[in-house]
This record gives sequence, structure tokens and C-alpha cells, in this order.
Amino acid sequence: MASKLTPFLCRSTPRALRQLQKSQWRSFAITAPSRSDSLMVHRNTAVNNPSIPFKFTAQNEQLIEEILARYPSQYRKAAVMPILDLGQRQHGFTSISVMNEVARLLEMPPMRVYEVATFYTMYNRNPVGRFHVQVCTTTPCMLCDSDSVTKACEDTLGLHYGQTTKDGLFTLTEVECLGACANAPMVQINDDYYEDLTYDSTVSLLKALQYATEATGAKPGDTGLGGEAGKGAVTGDDRNVKSGNQINEQGRAYEAGGVKIPTPGPLSGRASCEPSHGLTSLTSEPWGNETLRKDGAL
Ligand code: FES
Repeated sequence: MASKLTPFLCRSTPRALRQLQKSQWRSFAITAPSRSDSLMVHRNTAVNNPSIPFKFTAQNEQLIEEILARYPSQYRKAAVMPILDLGQRQHGFTSISVMNEVARLLEMPPMRVYEVATFYTMYNRNPVGRFHVQVCTTTPCMLCDSDSVTKACEDTLGLHYGQTTKDGLFTLTEVECLGACANAPMVQINDDYYEDLTYDSTVSLLKALQYATEATGAKPGDTGLGGEAGKGAVTGDDRNVKSGNQINEQGRAYEAGGVKIPTPGPLSGRASCEPSHGLTSLTSEPWGNETLRKDGAL
């Protein structure tokens, strides 16, 4: 028996000892947690509590009818997202009263509406400024220097992420990819994308919005650059902003109150997301009966 066990012990004992010596844990690295700007629970405030009444306007009620007509009658709740969006546009943000009204209209439990509104970050559940500046800092934008865009916003507006200016004009928010990575870095301001940004072009853009607001006499509660266009004079002394030169090399801009605001899109001179130094492919005459554009752009 001993003669049978000895070779087995000789083979297995060193292996078992080696296993014992080997540490059974390994280290792992984590990045610093980045807290969200928004609270995912509701807290009653003076401007956002269920006792504040909310009703859709007659015009929006008509729109709601049109939206509901797109869905089978037994699936009314499928319209929750567009109707929440409509409520946000009317009220300025998706308050608890807006959510409750949408739940009532769609005959849904309010909790189901809260779940949708708290999942999608485009529903602002607290008041935001007239210009909601959402800076994308996801990897492609970060690699293209979204840090400079963030810094430009902080320097110009005196805000950090999650804050609103005292006059209620700007809110600064950090967001994840907005799907315009080919034109990174970019920001979304209200419904518009501004792309291919640098520190300077971001500062010019924000200043143009500030000056245009003053010039048009629009109040923070207004949307876009409404107000009385052309009223008053442009204040401030940034000539580049007034002329729109630095904003956009191609000079694509629209005017509000005498101030040139760059049109949404790339601010680098690109028309879209074409290569910045000309085409590198599809440059020859196509086969068959297809034709190239006569202006030579494509
Ligand atoms: S990463 Fe910024 S738009 Fe996609």
C-alpha cells in the first residue's frame, strides 16, 4: 500500500503546496464615481409640486389628438413620450403636474409615466434656463477636446454642470453621446446642435446668444430668440460676435436684434460631416448613368 501511495504523494504534494502559496485574489481598478446632475427622485418644491395645476392649451390638445391617431386605440399609452415632450415644451420642464396630466390623458398609472420621464434625460424634471446648453463629454467628443468646450462654457457663463445662471438665461448640463460624433466636439442648445467646436467658437456662440437676448428684449421665460426682434441696440463690444466673423468661417449666421447668431451645424466651415480637407474617396466619375453634381462639390 505504501509503495502505491508514495509516488502519488510525491507528485501531488508539491502541486498542492504551490497552489497554497499562490494568492487567490487580484487587484482591480475603478474610476472615480461621477455623480449625475439630476436627482432621480421627486422632491416637492415651490415650482414643482402636484398642487400646481397644469392643462394643455387648446392648440396642444389638437396636436395630442393627432398624435393619438397614430396608435391603435388600445395602445394609447404608446404616445407617452411625444405627449410628455409636448408638455415640457408648453410648461418649460416636465413637472410632476405635467406627468400627472399625461397619465390622466393616457389612462395610465402615474408611476408608469414617472418611469419614462426619469429614464430619458431629455425630460427636464426641474426648470432650466432659456438656453439649455448640453455639452457632450462622451469618448469621441472627449478625444476631440470637449474639455475646452466645457471650460469655455464655465468661463463665459460662470457655471458648473447642473447650474443655471441667476438671470435664468443659461443652464449647463453634461450629457452622454448625442449622436453627432463625426462632428465632435459638440453641444446641444435647446433643439439645435452646434458642432466642430473650439474654445473660441464656443465663447463666441454663447456671447452671441447673450447679446441677442439683450438686444431683442426677450425675457428668460421666452423660448428661442423671440421677443421683439430688432428692438434696442446690441450691447457689449465684441466686434467678432457682432459681425459673426469668428463664429463661422463661412459666415453662415442668422440675425437676431442686430446680432449674428451662427446657424446650427458645424462651426468649422464644414457643410456637414465631409472630410475637412476634401474628398478622399468617390472622387472619380461614377459608372453607369449616375452623374456628379455640376458644382463639383460631390
Ligand atoms: S460622443 Fe459626442 S456626439 Fe457622440
